[in-house]
Amino acid sequence: MANSPSGDSAIDRVVRVLETFTIDRTVQTASEIGRRARLPSSTAHRLVDGLIEAGLLERDDEHRVRLGMRLWELALRGSHALRLRQAALPHMERVQARIREHTQLAVLEQDSALFLERLSHPDAGANITRIAGRLPLHASSSGLVLLAFAPEELRERVLAAPLAQVAKETVTDAAALRRLLAEVRRTGVAVAPGSIEAVSTGIAVAVRDPRGEVIAALSVVLPRDAPTEQAVTELVRAARGIRSSLSADLR
Ligand code: PHB
Repeated sequence: MANSPSGDSAIDRVVRVLETFTIDRTVQTASEIGRRARLPSSTAHRLVDGLIEAGLLERDDEHRVRLGMRLWELALRGSHALRLRQAALPHMERVQARIREHTQLAVLEQDSALFLERLSHPDAGANITRIAGRLPLHASSSGLVLLAFAPEELRERVLAAPLAQVAKETVTDAAALRRLLAEVRRTGVAVAPGSIEAVSTGIAVAVRDPRGEVIAALSVVLPRDAPTEQAVTELVRAARGIRSSLSADLR
């Protein structure tokens, strides 16, 4: 792949362009993209035009640029995430109908919890998760489950780095976090009161694939002082259901 004078490849530059889009920044001008991707303006305009021609980006009436439907189509085609989400949805709907609070499905992705799905109830309380959004591993219930069952090398890397104090009750002491993760590994459940926002308690359980590997976390977000037992029971049942649905898929 042709390298630029700065040594980065054409793929690096395209990835940098696509990565300037975030969950909160969905439309930009080509110049803004160039600045954020650290590319010369002419390169940015050329890349944006090429990506628009390929359908990976789209231009709106005001000449601003957004991610294209073609990118969505390609990303979902044959995707593990889509298969997992489809297997999980009926079980998530049942949890959500019974608990009447937000229900989420997250996977481990590049040192954070990436949310594949979120179902919300009209009467549900606060919730900062968003589909295709991320939360820190050490500061959310889903993240704690994913971190507890992550490869040891990743867990040690997270434990060795400074742990950001996202909310007042985020566990930021590495020794305390290590103990908490051991407990989550033992029970398969993480209860995280006020870990990411003071008003809520996140509860997450491990979702296993048919071979028994933890592949996701299923969670609900409850008001801070709500009882947690029923949510744990429903989540555990749903996680088992997802595992069976994935096994049935393989047949
Ligand atoms: C959590 O999983 O701990 C969590 C997630 C979103 C919230 C609150 C808690 O808004």
